[in-house]
Amino acid sequence: NTKLVKVEKEYPDLQIMKEAGEILKNGGLVAFPTETVYGLGGDGLNARSSEKIYTAKGRPSDNPLIIHIADMESLNKIVRQIPEKAKLLAEKFWPGPLTMIFQKSSEVPYETTGGLESVAVRMPNHPVALALIQAGGGYIAAPSANTSGRPSPTKAEHVAEDLSGRIDMIVDGGDVGIGLESTIVDFTENIPVILRPGYINQAMIEAVIGSVRMDKGLLISDEKVKPKAPGMKYRHYAPKAQLVIVQGNTNKVTAHINQICEALQQEGKKVGVIATDETKDLYQANVVKSIGTREDEEGIARHLFGILREFDEEDVDCIYSEAFDTPKIGQAIMNRLLKAAGHHIIYL
Ligand code: TXA
Ligand code: MG
Repeated sequence: NTKLVKVEKEYPDLQIMKEAGEILKNGGLVAFPTETVYGLGGDGLNARSSEKIYTAKGRPSDNPLIIHIADMESLNKIVRQIPEKAKLLAEKFWPGPLTMIFQKSSEVPYETTGGLESVAVRMPNHPVALALIQAGGGYIAAPSANTSGRPSPTKAEHVAEDLSGRIDMIVDGGDVGIGLESTIVDFTENIPVILRPGYINQAMIEAVIGSVRMDKGLLISDEKVKPKAPGMKYRHYAPKAQLVIVQGNTNKVTAHINQICEALQQEGKKVGVIATDETKDLYQANVVKSIGTREDEEGIARHLFGILREFDEEDVDCIYSEAFDTPKIGQAIMNRLLKAAGHHIIYL
Protein backbone atom coordinates (compact mmCIF):
# COMPACT_ATOMS: atom_id res chain seq x y z
CA ASN A 1 0.00 0.00 0.00
CA THR A 2 1.35 3.40 -1.01
CA LYS A 3 1.01 6.23 1.50
CA LEU A 4 0.24 9.58 -0.13
CA VAL A 5 1.26 12.71 1.80
CA LYS A 6 1.09 16.39 0.85
CA VAL A 7 3.70 18.91 1.96
CA GLU A 8 4.25 22.60 1.34
CA LYS A 9 7.04 23.17 -1.16
CA GLU A 10 8.87 25.92 0.73
CA TYR A 11 8.32 24.60 4.28
CA PRO A 12 7.83 20.83 4.19
CA ASP A 13 6.52 19.40 7.48
CA LEU A 14 9.60 18.11 9.33
CA GLN A 15 7.70 15.24 10.96
CA ILE A 16 6.59 13.95 7.55
CA MET A 17 10.08 14.35 6.08
CA LYS A 18 11.47 12.39 9.02
CA GLU A 19 9.00 9.57 8.43
CA ALA A 20 9.87 9.51 4.70
CA GLY A 21 13.59 9.53 5.57
CA GLU A 22 13.13 6.51 7.88
CA ILE A 23 11.47 4.58 5.04
CA LEU A 24 14.52 5.26 2.85
CA LYS A 25 17.01 4.31 5.60
CA ASN A 26 15.12 1.04 6.05
CA GLY A 27 15.45 0.20 2.36
CA GLY A 28 12.03 1.41 1.19
CA LEU A 29 11.05 3.60 -1.75
CA VAL A 30 9.69 7.17 -1.64
CA ALA A 31 8.69 9.31 -4.66
CA PHE A 32 9.37 13.03 -4.25
CA PRO A 33 9.32 16.28 -6.23
CA THR A 34 12.43 17.95 -7.65
CA GLU A 35 12.64 21.09 -9.79
CA THR A 36 12.88 18.97 -12.97
CA VAL A 37 10.53 15.97 -12.62
CA TYR A 38 9.36 13.70 -9.78
CA GLY A 39 11.97 11.16 -8.66
CA LEU A 40 11.58 7.62 -7.29
CA GLY A 41 14.01 7.55 -4.36
CA GLY A 42 15.82 4.73 -2.60
CA ASP A 43 19.05 4.61 -0.55
CA GLY A 44 21.74 4.90 -3.24
CA LEU A 45 24.35 3.11 -1.14
CA ASN A 46 22.05 0.12 -0.51
CA ALA A 47 22.17 -2.42 -3.34
CA ARG A 48 18.79 -3.91 -2.37
CA SER A 49 17.09 -0.50 -2.59
CA SER A 50 18.40 0.04 -6.10
CA GLU A 51 17.15 -3.40 -7.14
CA LYS A 52 13.72 -2.47 -5.79
CA ILE A 53 13.73 0.73 -7.88
CA TYR A 54 14.30 -1.26 -11.09
CA THR A 55 11.49 -3.65 -10.20
CA ALA A 56 9.01 -0.89 -9.32
CA LYS A 57 9.67 0.96 -12.59
CA GLY A 58 9.99 -2.12 -14.77
CA ARG A 59 13.34 -0.66 -15.83
CA PRO A 60 16.20 -2.66 -17.34
CA SER A 61 18.86 -3.03 -14.64
CA ASP A 62 21.71 -1.95 -16.98
CA ASN A 63 20.28 1.57 -16.94
CA PRO A 64 22.15 3.43 -14.15
CA LEU A 65 20.55 5.68 -11.51
CA ILE A 66 21.42 9.25 -10.46
CA ILE A 67 22.50 9.71 -6.82
CA HIS A 68 21.02 12.88 -5.30
CA ILE A 69 23.00 14.74 -2.64
CA ALA A 70 22.22 17.80 -0.49
CA ASP A 71 25.70 19.30 0.07
CA MET A 72 29.14 19.42 -1.56
CA GLU A 73 30.87 17.42 1.22
CA SER A 74 28.76 14.37 0.33
CA LEU A 75 30.30 14.25 -3.13
CA ASN A 76 33.76 13.20 -1.88
CA LYS A 77 32.50 9.94 -0.42
CA ILE A 78 31.00 8.61 -3.65
CA VAL A 79 33.45 9.75 -6.36
CA ARG A 80 37.17 9.05 -6.82
CA GLN A 81 38.11 12.58 -7.82
CA ILE A 82 36.44 15.82 -8.83
CA PRO A 83 37.86 17.51 -11.96
CA GLU A 84 38.36 21.33 -11.66
CA LYS A 85 35.79 22.02 -14.38
CA ALA A 86 33.18 19.96 -12.54
CA LYS A 87 33.83 22.04 -9.41
CA LEU A 88 33.19 25.20 -11.44
CA LEU A 89 29.91 23.83 -12.80
CA ALA A 90 28.84 22.75 -9.31
CA GLU A 91 29.55 26.25 -7.96
CA LYS A 92 27.52 27.83 -10.73
CA PHE A 93 24.59 25.40 -11.12
CA TRP A 94 24.17 23.37 -7.89
CA PRO A 95 21.69 23.03 -6.42
CA GLY A 96 20.03 22.85 -9.83
CA PRO A 97 19.02 20.84 -12.92
CA LEU A 98 22.51 19.52 -13.69
CA THR A 99 23.79 15.95 -13.30
CA MET A 100 27.52 15.18 -13.53
CA ILE A 101 29.18 11.82 -14.10
CA PHE A 102 32.38 10.85 -12.25
CA GLN A 103 34.47 7.74 -11.56
CA LYS A 104 32.66 6.05 -8.67
CA SER A 105 34.21 5.19 -5.30
CA SER A 106 33.88 1.73 -3.73
CA GLU A 107 31.04 3.04 -1.51
CA VAL A 108 28.68 2.99 -4.50
CA PRO A 109 27.21 -0.44 -5.30
CA TYR A 110 27.16 -1.64 -8.93
CA GLU A 111 23.42 -2.17 -8.55
CA THR A 112 23.08 1.64 -8.43
CA THR A 113 25.35 2.28 -11.44
CA GLY A 114 23.98 -0.46 -13.67
CA GLY A 115 27.35 -2.24 -13.44
CA LEU A 116 29.38 0.82 -14.54
CA GLU A 117 32.57 2.18 -12.91
CA SER A 118 31.07 5.69 -13.11
CA VAL A 119 28.33 7.34 -11.07
CA ALA A 120 25.88 10.13 -11.92
CA VAL A 121 25.37 12.76 -9.19
CA ARG A 122 22.98 15.70 -8.83
CA MET A 123 22.10 18.25 -6.14
CA PRO A 124 18.47 19.18 -6.82
CA ASN A 125 17.12 22.68 -6.21
CA HIS A 126 13.91 21.86 -4.35
CA PRO A 127 13.31 22.29 -0.60
CA VAL A 128 11.36 19.00 -0.36
CA ALA A 129 14.02 17.01 -2.22
CA LEU A 130 16.85 18.50 -0.13
CA ALA A 131 14.98 17.83 3.14
CA LEU A 132 14.30 14.24 2.10
CA ILE A 133 17.92 13.60 1.11
CA GLN A 134 19.08 14.88 4.51
CA ALA A 135 16.46 12.85 6.39
CA GLY A 136 17.17 9.73 4.32
CA GLY A 137 20.90 9.39 4.91
CA GLY A 138 22.36 11.77 2.32
CA TYR A 139 22.54 9.62 -0.85
CA ILE A 140 19.23 9.08 -2.62
CA ALA A 141 19.29 7.16 -5.89
CA ALA A 142 16.39 8.41 -7.98
CA PRO A 143 15.31 7.87 -11.56
CA SER A 144 12.24 9.69 -12.82
CA ALA A 145 9.18 8.29 -10.99
CA ASN A 146 7.38 6.87 -14.05
CA THR A 147 6.89 3.36 -15.31
CA SER A 148 9.74 2.66 -17.73
CA GLY A 149 8.80 3.98 -21.20
CA ARG A 150 6.10 6.43 -20.05
CA PRO A 151 6.58 10.22 -19.95
CA SER A 152 8.37 11.47 -16.82
CA PRO A 153 5.99 12.69 -14.09
CA THR A 154 5.56 16.43 -13.56
CA LYS A 155 2.81 16.09 -10.90
CA ALA A 156 2.23 13.72 -8.00
CA GLU A 157 -0.90 12.41 -9.80
CA HIS A 158 1.32 11.11 -12.64
CA VAL A 159 3.42 9.21 -10.10
CA ALA A 160 0.32 7.70 -8.51
CA GLU A 161 -0.97 6.61 -11.98
CA ASP A 162 2.23 4.67 -12.63
CA LEU A 163 3.51 3.48 -9.24
CA SER A 164 0.59 3.27 -6.80
CA GLY A 165 0.83 -0.02 -4.90
CA ARG A 166 4.45 -0.55 -5.96
CA ILE A 167 6.25 1.88 -3.62
CA ASP A 168 5.98 2.88 0.06
CA MET A 169 5.21 6.59 -0.14
CA ILE A 170 4.52 9.48 -2.52
CA VAL A 171 5.40 12.95 -1.21
CA ASP A 172 3.22 15.45 -3.09
CA GLY A 173 4.96 18.83 -3.17
CA GLY A 174 2.94 20.27 -6.06
CA ASP A 175 3.79 20.60 -9.74
CA VAL A 176 7.46 20.74 -10.78
CA GLY A 177 8.98 23.95 -12.19
CA ILE A 178 11.01 22.85 -15.22
CA GLY A 179 9.28 19.72 -16.47
CA LEU A 180 12.22 18.15 -18.34
CA GLU A 181 14.93 15.99 -16.74
CA SER A 182 18.32 17.44 -15.79
CA THR A 183 21.16 18.12 -18.22
CA ILE A 184 23.79 15.34 -17.92
CA VAL A 185 27.51 16.15 -18.35
CA ASP A 186 30.02 13.31 -18.39
CA PHE A 187 33.41 14.07 -16.75
CA THR A 188 34.95 10.62 -17.16
CA GLU A 189 36.65 11.55 -20.45
CA ASN A 190 39.21 14.26 -21.30
CA ILE A 191 36.67 16.65 -22.81
CA PRO A 192 33.36 16.95 -20.94
CA VAL A 193 30.43 15.55 -22.94
CA ILE A 194 26.72 16.41 -22.73
CA LEU A 195 24.88 13.07 -22.64
CA ARG A 196 21.37 14.52 -22.22
CA PRO A 197 20.30 18.10 -23.04
CA GLY A 198 18.19 19.95 -20.46
CA TYR A 199 17.25 23.36 -19.13
CA ILE A 200 20.96 24.16 -18.64
CA ASN A 201 22.07 24.26 -22.27
CA GLN A 202 25.43 23.91 -24.01
CA ALA A 203 26.03 27.69 -24.20
CA MET A 204 25.40 28.10 -20.44
CA ILE A 205 27.91 25.32 -19.69
CA GLU A 206 30.52 26.61 -22.14
CA ALA A 207 30.26 30.08 -20.61
CA VAL A 208 31.65 28.54 -17.40
CA ILE A 209 34.14 25.84 -18.51
CA GLY A 210 34.80 26.42 -22.22
CA SER A 211 34.30 23.90 -24.96
CA VAL A 212 32.17 20.78 -24.37
CA ARG A 213 31.00 18.12 -26.84
CA MET A 214 27.51 16.81 -27.51
CA ASP A 215 27.28 13.01 -27.39
CA LYS A 216 27.27 11.71 -30.98
CA GLY A 217 24.35 9.44 -30.23
CA LEU A 218 22.21 12.52 -29.56
CA LEU A 219 22.96 14.27 -32.82
CA ILE A 220 22.71 11.45 -35.34
CA SER A 221 19.46 9.54 -35.55
CA ASP A 222 21.36 6.47 -36.74
CA GLU A 223 20.49 3.26 -34.92
CA LYS A 224 24.13 2.17 -35.00
CA VAL A 225 25.41 5.18 -33.05
CA LYS A 226 24.45 4.37 -29.47
CA PRO A 227 24.11 7.22 -26.97
CA LYS A 228 26.52 6.89 -24.04
CA ALA A 229 23.84 7.33 -21.36
CA PRO A 230 22.19 3.90 -21.45
CA GLY A 231 18.78 5.46 -20.75
CA MET A 232 18.87 7.52 -23.94
CA LYS A 233 18.75 4.47 -26.19
CA TYR A 234 15.34 3.23 -25.11
CA ARG A 235 12.09 4.31 -26.79
CA HIS A 236 10.78 6.72 -24.24
CA TYR A 237 8.00 9.03 -23.25
CA ALA A 238 5.97 7.28 -25.90
CA PRO A 239 2.23 7.94 -25.93
CA LYS A 240 0.03 4.99 -26.90
CA ALA A 241 -0.90 6.52 -30.28
CA GLN A 242 1.80 6.99 -32.92
CA LEU A 243 3.24 10.51 -32.72
CA VAL A 244 4.62 12.40 -35.74
CA ILE A 245 6.36 15.79 -35.63
CA VAL A 246 5.87 18.28 -38.47
CA GLN A 247 8.52 20.99 -38.70
CA GLY A 248 8.57 24.10 -40.89
CA ASN A 249 6.92 27.45 -41.47
CA THR A 250 3.64 27.80 -39.52
CA ASN A 251 1.31 28.18 -42.51
CA LYS A 252 2.78 25.14 -44.22
CA VAL A 253 2.63 23.07 -41.03
CA THR A 254 -1.01 23.82 -40.26
CA ALA A 255 -2.01 23.23 -43.90
CA HIS A 256 -0.10 19.94 -44.08
CA ILE A 257 -1.47 18.60 -40.80
CA ASN A 258 -5.02 19.54 -41.80
CA GLN A 259 -4.57 17.68 -45.09
CA ILE A 260 -3.44 14.55 -43.27
CA CYS A 261 -6.31 14.92 -40.78
CA GLU A 262 -8.85 15.02 -43.55
CA ALA A 263 -7.44 11.93 -45.21
CA LEU A 264 -7.25 9.97 -41.97
CA GLN A 265 -10.70 11.06 -40.80
CA GLN A 266 -12.12 9.78 -44.09
CA GLU A 267 -10.69 6.38 -43.19
CA GLY A 268 -12.56 6.67 -39.88
CA LYS A 269 -9.46 7.45 -37.80
CA LYS A 270 -9.35 9.92 -34.91
CA VAL A 271 -6.50 12.41 -35.01
CA GLY A 272 -4.91 14.49 -32.24
CA VAL A 273 -2.77 17.60 -32.62
CA ILE A 274 -0.26 19.23 -30.28
CA ALA A 275 -0.53 22.93 -31.13
CA THR A 276 0.26 26.28 -29.52
CA ASP A 277 -2.03 29.08 -28.31
CA GLU A 278 -1.21 30.86 -31.58
CA THR A 279 -2.33 27.96 -33.82
CA LYS A 280 -4.84 25.86 -31.87
CA ASP A 281 -7.90 27.32 -33.63
CA LEU A 282 -6.49 26.57 -37.08
CA TYR A 283 -6.68 22.76 -36.88
CA GLN A 284 -9.50 20.47 -37.94
CA ALA A 285 -8.34 17.50 -35.87
CA ASN A 286 -10.60 15.54 -33.48
CA VAL A 287 -8.61 16.58 -30.41
CA VAL A 288 -6.42 19.70 -30.37
CA LYS A 289 -4.35 20.51 -27.29
CA SER A 290 -2.27 23.64 -26.84
CA ILE A 291 1.10 23.28 -25.16
CA GLY A 292 1.08 27.05 -24.40
CA THR A 293 2.28 30.14 -26.18
CA ARG A 294 5.45 30.28 -28.29
CA GLU A 295 6.32 33.43 -26.33
CA ASP A 296 7.00 31.26 -23.26
CA GLU A 297 9.43 28.42 -23.97
CA GLU A 298 9.64 27.49 -20.29
CA GLY A 299 5.90 26.91 -20.37
CA ILE A 300 6.27 24.64 -23.40
CA ALA A 301 8.94 22.60 -21.59
CA ARG A 302 6.80 22.37 -18.46
CA HIS A 303 3.69 21.14 -20.31
CA LEU A 304 5.24 18.62 -22.73
CA PHE A 305 5.15 15.43 -20.62
CA GLY A 306 1.72 16.26 -19.18
CA ILE A 307 0.27 16.67 -22.69
CA LEU A 308 1.74 13.35 -23.85
CA ARG A 309 0.07 11.71 -20.83
CA GLU A 310 -3.25 13.48 -21.52
CA PHE A 311 -3.31 12.01 -25.01
CA ASP A 312 -3.26 8.53 -23.52
CA GLU A 313 -6.70 9.33 -22.05
CA GLU A 314 -8.00 10.36 -25.47
CA ASP A 315 -9.06 7.73 -27.88
CA VAL A 316 -7.00 8.96 -30.86
CA ASP A 317 -5.25 6.78 -33.46
CA CYS A 318 -2.41 9.18 -34.18
CA ILE A 319 -1.02 12.47 -32.96
CA TYR A 320 0.65 15.23 -34.99
CA SER A 321 2.81 17.79 -33.21
CA GLU A 322 4.34 21.09 -34.20
CA ALA A 323 8.10 21.35 -33.58
CA PHE A 324 9.32 23.48 -30.66
CA ASP A 325 12.85 24.42 -31.63
CA THR A 326 12.90 27.38 -29.22
CA PRO A 327 16.10 29.42 -28.58
CA LYS A 328 17.24 28.21 -25.13
CA ILE A 329 15.48 25.00 -24.13
CA GLY A 330 14.57 23.95 -27.68
CA GLN A 331 17.28 21.34 -27.95
CA ALA A 332 16.04 19.61 -24.80
CA ILE A 333 12.37 19.88 -25.78
CA MET A 334 13.02 18.47 -29.27
CA ASN A 335 15.21 15.66 -27.86
CA ARG A 336 12.26 14.45 -25.72
CA LEU A 337 9.66 15.02 -28.44
CA LEU A 338 11.74 13.13 -31.05
CA LYS A 339 12.12 10.20 -28.68
CA ALA A 340 8.38 10.19 -28.00
CA ALA A 341 7.85 10.12 -31.78
CA GLY A 342 10.40 7.35 -32.34
CA HIS A 343 12.16 9.95 -34.56
CA HIS A 344 9.19 10.27 -36.95
CA ILE A 345 9.54 13.80 -38.26
CA ILE A 346 8.37 15.48 -41.47
CA TYR A 347 10.37 18.53 -42.65
CA LEU A 348 8.44 20.96 -44.83
O1 TXA B 1 16.11 15.47 -13.58
C1 TXA B 1 16.52 14.33 -13.40
O2 TXA B 1 17.69 13.98 -13.69
C2 TXA B 1 15.56 13.31 -12.76
C3 TXA B 1 15.28 13.76 -11.33
C4 TXA B 1 14.47 12.77 -10.56
O3 TXA B 1 16.49 14.05 -10.68
N1 TXA B 1 16.12 11.99 -12.80
C5 TXA B 1 16.23 11.28 -13.96
O4 TXA B 1 16.75 10.00 -13.81
O5 TXA B 1 15.91 11.72 -15.04
P1 TXA B 1 16.59 8.87 -14.93
O6 TXA B 1 17.06 7.63 -14.26
O7 TXA B 1 15.22 8.86 -15.47
O8 TXA B 1 17.62 9.28 -16.01
C6 TXA B 1 19.01 9.14 -15.75
C7 TXA B 1 19.79 9.09 -17.02
C8 TXA B 1 19.59 7.81 -17.78
O9 TXA B 1 19.52 8.11 -19.16
C9 TXA B 1 20.88 7.03 -17.47
O10 TXA B 1 21.21 6.13 -18.48
C10 TXA B 1 21.89 8.14 -17.33
O11 TXA B 1 21.18 9.16 -16.68
N2 TXA B 1 23.03 7.76 -16.47
C11 TXA B 1 23.02 7.56 -15.13
N3 TXA B 1 24.23 7.18 -14.68
C12 TXA B 1 25.04 7.15 -15.75
C13 TXA B 1 26.43 6.80 -15.95
N4 TXA B 1 27.19 6.43 -14.94
N5 TXA B 1 26.92 6.88 -17.21
C14 TXA B 1 26.15 7.27 -18.25
N6 TXA B 1 24.83 7.59 -18.13
C15 TXA B 1 24.28 7.52 -16.90
MG1 MG C 1 13.65 8.61 -16.75
